[in-house]
Amino acid sequence: MPETVLVTGGAGFIGSHTCVELLAHGYEVVVVDNHVNSAPHALDRIAKTAGRPLAASYQVDVRDRQALSRVFAAHRVDAVIHFAAHKAVGESVALPVEYYDTNVAGTCALLAVMHEHGVHRLVFSSSCSVYGDADSVPLTEHSPVAPTNPYAHTKLMCERVLEDVCAHLAEMKVLALRYFNPVGAHPSGLLGEDPQGVPNNLMPYVAQVAVGRRERLSVFGDDYATADGTGVRDYIHVMDVAEGHRVAVEHLDDRAGFQVFNLGTGTGTSVLQLVAAFGEASGRPIPYQVVDRRPGDVAALVADAGAVAAAWNWTTTRDLTAMCRDAWRFQQLNPHGYAR
Ligand code: UD1
Repeated sequence: MPETVLVTGGAGFIGSHTCVELLAHGYEVVVVDNHVNSAPHALDRIAKTAGRPLAASYQVDVRDRQALSRVFAAHRVDAVIHFAAHKAVGESVALPVEYYDTNVAGTCALLAVMHEHGVHRLVFSSSCSVYGDADSVPLTEHSPVAPTNPYAHTKLMCERVLEDVCAHLAEMKVLALRYFNPVGAHPSGLLGEDPQGVPNNLMPYVAQVAVGRRERLSVFGDDYATADGTGVRDYIHVMDVAEGHRVAVEHLDDRAGFQVFNLGTGTGTSVLQLVAAFGEASGRPIPYQVVDRRPGDVAALVADAGAVAAAWNWTTTRDLTAMCRDAWRFQQLNPHGYAR
């Protein structure tokens, strides 16, 4: 019998690519998504990309315990991957209660329903933002955590809840993955990032400049203590993130309890380096202007990716060129996203 994985937030950017990866490896996949920040069209794209359908998909909010419980009752769920959450740092400052409710209360509701149905295996979507303004990079899982905004606080709070639940319920097995900066798209060009409105994040913004939807990029500051003065991040191809989740599911039974892992490449890239790489991949130079720093931004965030390599004998394989090439292919084939 193939294993069944329930994916919350399965229609979102990372969720949809993870569903394709799971389907490609023979898993049965059940999606739960309330579609507040994802297109239902992504579900059709998942099946088309994978060449196999999802077992089922449900428009359900994870905070709705009764509806969620009905989903668990309808499927023999072996493991859960929990992506469903709000993820925009700026928005979290304006709407902190909404962030705590969806991200923290949502995780608690999911845990309660998993417990009710005897499901004990979970991969949790966490974030490198829990490290805050790091003193030095690369960051290991033992680096100090110091969230600087409500979004990052919710992710750390969920980790704490999961860790404590694992400490008291011996059957629980939880892996929390702290992603660095997921970018790119499925190489088919069928699946990618479909931000609503003006993109907050660098890569989708650059892609929209390249395709002519936006005039020029604003580079948020060139006076950071980095080689070229612009912010340095650890960009990771979304298919490597997806693969990391599939590999995590395979390693859920390595040991009981709670474990946290970074999911990054270990390579830092500045804004200007990314702009140059995207210009090369698309054949279109990216016009930009340097503006003031964005409040809350930090100079550099780069992972030490050694722990997953040691624990799972797995590393990322896709470089910045592949990230830009695949993001560009998706942008060209879907200049206005999935629906429009
Ligand atoms: C942020 C969050 C991260 C979250 C991610 C995706 C932090 C520390 N990180 O990452 O947790 O998962 O968003 O939602 O809060 N930049 C520009 N111009 C732009 C956009 C960005 O110059 O128009 C620069 C930024 O200043 C930064 C880099 O590009 O140096 C990357 O920014 P972005 O893609 O927004 O990601 P983070 O802020 O690193």
